[in-house]
Amino acid sequence: MQRTLSIVKPDGVKKNLIGEVIKRFEENGLRVIGLKMIYMDKREAEGFYAVHRGKPFYESLTQFMSSGPSVVMVLEGDNAILKTRELMGATDPREAKEGTLRRQYANNIERNIVHGSDGPETAAFEIGYFFNALELFPY
Ligand code: CDP
Ligand code: MG
Repeated sequence: MQRTLSIVKPDGVKKNLIGEVIKRFEENGLRVIGLKMIYMDKREAEGFYAVHRGKPFYESLTQFMSSGPSVVMVLEGDNAILKTRELMGATDPREAKEGTLRRQYANNIERNIVHGSDGPETAAFEIGYFFNALELFPY
């Protein structure tokens, strides 16, 4: 059993994809054990993406992530981190496999509709960034 953090990014919310993303995860055996809508400010987006500080896309990315509401969720299941990333597809939608969420719905490498943690340590950090223990409900 593993946990991961996923986000329907501001572009995904604006494209009415909240349900589609959650459905894809649920259909593939992941359980949503924490869920909320948030509107990150710039500072919160910068903290979330601190690992990317200094990269050329950091400023634009954190502006985009604070440009509208997002839906953040904690997913639980076998191999949840890898499974979520497989369902999302590659960062650049042009490189994402057919049938993945990003291939189907993303506009470009920045506006790629969905986030998923990339490893156990980042998952722990990212879950704790948005959720406390009382907001998670394993079932
Ligand atoms: O989200 P993922 O783990 O697939 O990619 P990342 O390398 O951790 O980058 C985080 C996010 O930054 C991506 O999802 C994109 O929104 C954005 N990004 C970008 O705008 N341009 C890049 N060259 C790489 C990433
Ligand atoms: Mg990443």
